[in-house]
Amino acid sequence: MKILSVVGARPNFMKISPIISAIDAYNAGSFTLSPSPGREKIDHFLVHTGQHYDRIMSESFFQDLGICQPDASLGVGSGTHAGQTAEILRRFEPVLLEERPDLVLVAGDVNSTLACALVAAKISYGSNGKRPLIAHVEAGLRSFDRTMPEEVNRVATDHLCDLLFVTEQSGIENLKREGIPEEKIFFVGNTMIDTLMLFRERASQSDVLKSLGLIERSNGSERISPYALLTLHRPSNVDNRETFTGILDAMEKISARLPVVFPAHPRTRKQMDSLQIQNVSRSSGPGAMVTEPLGYIDFLCLMSNAKLVLTDSGGIQEETTCLGVPCVTIRENTERPVTVTQGTNLLSGVKPDAIVDAANRQLARQKGNSAPEFWDGRASYRIVEAIRGRFP
Ligand code: UD1
Repeated sequence: MKILSVVGARPNFMKISPIISAIDAYNAGSFTLSPSPGREKIDHFLVHTGQHYDRIMSESFFQDLGICQPDASLGVGSGTHAGQTAEILRRFEPVLLEERPDLVLVAGDVNSTLACALVAAKISYGSNGKRPLIAHVEAGLRSFDRTMPEEVNRVATDHLCDLLFVTEQSGIENLKREGIPEEKIFFVGNTMIDTLMLFRERASQSDVLKSLGLIERSNGSERISPYALLTLHRPSNVDNRETFTGILDAMEKISARLPVVFPAHPRTRKQMDSLQIQNVSRSSGPGAMVTEPLGYIDFLCLMSNAKLVLTDSGGIQEETTCLGVPCVTIRENTERPVTVTQGTNLLSGVKPDAIVDAANRQLARQKGNSAPEFWDGRASYRIVEAIRGRFP
């Protein structure tokens, strides 16, 4: 059997990489399925749509995570939502017709996820109308906010798929409520956490703390200076001047208490330039440190050692929960409610005072974690097992 996996944007790489490793392990016979459906090997074909294309947004993740080079690169680049999605549709179809996989695997909620699922749902390999099965990794998450492009991508993708791999209980409930048959839904855990567990040890060796001047020396010993880590890239937060400057005002207040390290996403950097935001912190306190986007290993090191993480990312809410690091999510809602009910996440909304208040509350909180069910480093094995079960 043949699986074709799709990656396109930064968060996809961490979600697909451990599944490729699990397929390799299955082919090498180093993990067995229960009950074993036989030992037919799985062919794997990797497509990179090129939604993210910079070395720092894409290539460095292939290096850090040891992902094989893509078998096909579509090179779509940036564009409007319609333009980017259309370009992926157009360029993915011939690849699918040429490769004719048994199953197409898409992950997350980016434009590449929806576009490739849509092509696969409408393709016909021949006059018999055969098409591949379609599987969605990280299915069922809902923010219930249709103004988010990612929410549109999630809902539409889930309704095109045949196998829905769910990370948390809320996903099962959401899919059932939308009428998706139970036999399509598989509660497998979180492949992004598989990656985190695999690379955590290596991240502890990163020298990023030293290079950012976050190591203090006194009396011949070294310790990590307390710092907060900030990421921001949601259009609703950075594309609107009032919201964006309000968030940065909150950061200025927080950075009077402890330095804020801010690896700025290209979208955010562009907005800072076009809104002529020169300096994120004008305070007399420790201030803010704006850096380029970081590679996976360095970012994991920074996240693991932070006193506090402030973010509008989806994946970072999950990673901080797993690491036991307090997180403030600068949004009104989350599609990952388990990170609030069981994890370390607190939603602040986007008002400056509310962000500062949430940060102070989270700084008073003890570090500590309780990993949600199946966030145990084995989600990718469960996915390979479920897929194999569909091809006896
Ligand atoms: C996309 C995803 C979002 C995900 C995020 C992770 C969608 C709808 N959004 O948002 O869900 O959380 O990726 O980063 O799919 N750019 C570069 N270099 C790159 C890639 C992008 O400079 O390698 C610039 C583009 O020119 C563009 C901006 O960043 O102006 C935004 O990129 P885009 O892929 O459109 O969306 P993201 O905001 O990154």
